[in-house]
Amino acid sequence: MPAYPGLSAGASSLRPSVFTTLASQFKTLPQPPIPLHLGDTYRLPPEAARIDRVLPRMPKDQYGYVNPNGLDELRAAVAQRCAGEGFTGLDANHVHVTAGGSNALYVTVATWVQPGDEVLVCAPYWPMIKGMIQTMGGVPIEVPFYPAVRRGDDLGELLSRYVTPRTVALYVTNPNNPCGTVLTPGQVQEVANFVQAKNLWAIADEAYHHYVYEGSKHVFLASLPGMSERTATIFTVSKSYALAGTRVGFIVGSPTWLDTSRRMFTHAVYNVPMFSQLTALAAIEQGEPWIAETRAIYAKAADTVLRTFDAEFGPAQGGGYVFADLGKDLAGKPAMEYLLELLREGVCISPGDAFGAEFTNHVRVCFTSVPHDTLEIAIGKMNRSLHRLRQAARQPGSANAAA
Ligand SMILES: Cc1ncc(COP(=O)(O)O)c(C=O)c1O
Repeated sequence: MPAYPGLSAGASSLRPSVFTTLASQFKTLPQPPIPLHLGDTYRLPPEAARIDRVLPRMPKDQYGYVNPNGLDELRAAVAQRCAGEGFTGLDANHVHVTAGGSNALYVTVATWVQPGDEVLVCAPYWPMIKGMIQTMGGVPIEVPFYPAVRRGDDLGELLSRYVTPRTVALYVTNPNNPCGTVLTPGQVQEVANFVQAKNLWAIADEAYHHYVYEGSKHVFLASLPGMSERTATIFTVSKSYALAGTRVGFIVGSPTWLDTSRRMFTHAVYNVPMFSQLTALAAIEQGEPWIAETRAIYAKAADTVLRTFDAEFGPAQGGGYVFADLGKDLAGKPAMEYLLELLREGVCISPGDAFGAEFTNHVRVCFTSVPHDTLEIAIGKMNRSLHRLRQAARQPGSANAAA
């Protein structure tokens, strides 16, 4: 380990956010772009979880620490909800309250991964998981998983090709961010069979489980036989209830290892602020009608993207994104060219390589970050830029001219 001014290898391995190049362009624009690059929502949270409604529930003299595991009633409420989703034998001891989903993942990775360990990362993936594994000295191994899911390939056979004696865990997001795919119950079972056969830990990032649209069914990995002991299920009120700013997430898992994760968390954060936990509790207790309404709004947005965005992508079966393959349109140019051109049109979307090394031709579009009419305007602009790109590719002298 280098002394001053050296930095740890884990910390140095973290790269600047992919949005930095795009964000640096914002100040050259006449007005801020339509933000379809964000993984967020324009919706306000359920009424009961809003600041003015939660404030009266705060004890007047609450300035001190609270239970580092999380409020008992909040953990009990999460356990109860999980029981309704096919988890068995859960109580508050199976739940730990964290500072958002990111912190839940970080603590889980810190519990299971040590230097040199490999973690299978089902790609495309939520970008920050890679840096978390690297920070611990672990090695993220990208598996081209979701393209295989869409093709209906044998997932156990695919995953087995990437296993080595150093593999300790598998990370999977379902519903997927960025591609919107939801694993079928049979595919979840294939993942469970593989994880058990290879004796691995499983990190099931099910942040978007409330947002699954007609025709798809979400099954929790931990709810399958033999999986509850070895799986960390990650939840976040950021996605479930539009509460990203209050920073509350949950790890649901077995106390046999979760108690160690609690110690990791206590050493880093100690406790999530009580006010934040009360927003989460109110959302869980009273947010069901809001979720149903939001799901319908997101489903309509997903459908609009599917019908009107003139690019190659699979339908969003869940979550808030589509992941388009512009390979044919780009004619060998980097996707960043389309992104920058689109930015000048007034729309910002995300570059695909943030979500996996082999997705350099892809772009992610978030359809939950703006209201429907703004989304339609953005799609119009996205199509116009894309058509220009196609026309340029057909010009004599371009690599694709004859194709
Ligand atoms: C799949 C997935 N997991 C985890 C997170 C992190 O959640 P949070 O914002 O609560 O930290 C996100 C955030 O975008 C996400 O998309």
